[in-house]
Amino acid sequence: MRERIIDLLKGATSVLSGEELSLSLGVSRTAVWKCIGELRAQGYDIQAASRHGYRLVSCPDLLTPSEIQFGLRTKILGRACVHFDSIASTMNEAFRLAMEGASEGTIVVAETQTKGRGRLGRSWSSPKSKGIYCSIILRPGGAPAGVAPLTLLTAVAVSEAVERVSSVRPLIKWPNDLLVKDKKLCGILTEMRAETDRIEFVIIGIGLNVNSTPRQLVPEAVSLKQVLGHSVSRVILLQEVLRAIESRYIDVQKNGFGATFVAWRERSATIGRKVRFQEKGGMMEGVAVDLDSDGGLLVKLASGKIIKKISGDILL
Ligand code: BTN
Repeated sequence: MRERIIDLLKGATSVLSGEELSLSLGVSRTAVWKCIGELRAQGYDIQAASRHGYRLVSCPDLLTPSEIQFGLRTKILGRACVHFDSIASTMNEAFRLAMEGASEGTIVVAETQTKGRGRLGRSWSSPKSKGIYCSIILRPGGAPAGVAPLTLLTAVAVSEAVERVSSVRPLIKWPNDLLVKDKKLCGILTEMRAETDRIEFVIIGIGLNVNSTPRQLVPEAVSLKQVLGHSVSRVILLQEVLRAIESRYIDVQKNGFGATFVAWRERSATIGRKVRFQEKGGMMEGVAVDLDSDGGLLVKLASGKIIKKISGDILL
């Protein structure tokens, strides 16, 4: 009911009386009054003028479904949205929902995670209401090899969204870390369930440092607030992220990954740079020369030989 009250107040041109709200919602005025109290406790500034009714003055920067979906205008992403104040990891919950048949585009968002996880078994620090911690369910079909390019697509889209909202242009460190001044702004974790030859679903997890302070982050990470010197609305940023991913996702389904790979190269922090990485035989070094059509990184070794790296991490 809280979501519906907020939607009604947001859509109202003037104040809404308790009676109007109770009639629209089919509940008693006392129930409306109780709900208004709960919303205020959540951070909504709702003015009550005696005998006139309620007016929404401002909303908290919470990633609740009503905040995310208001004015979102996407077709797939975020049309279903589940929000947690605190959860172990949005990845687990998204996986569980996907197993139960949740529709494509369902997102799971949390204010904080107690066991947020990153790639290669790392953890992801999730200070409360300071970042975006979101997992998206996709059902692209096709062969499991199609998942790596989807992760690259997400990196491009998040970089585009950050740039649209803040004018900061994050660069992409292969495969999908977003960097600003060589520090990590965003990490992307992709998990999937597949038969041998067909993807059942993909979960894309996005961890974006938005308003965190340096003390809340590891030294190699940075938040948008640190870069800009002021806070950024997480709601507006997440909406833009969802729009950007959806737009690239629809384009890729129609036209393939060509344009997205071009955009990845343009935003790359990796191509043309010296890279080091661990291989079975020990540490290797070379120059990253290009992205392959399957999302692998082509590296030219000192011997002139070009090898393809398909997973793991690199050092710039
Ligand atoms: C990485 O760079 O290693 C990937 C980090 C991914 C973090 C996000 S936060 C939302 C989702 N839930 C998780 O537990 N992890 C991902």
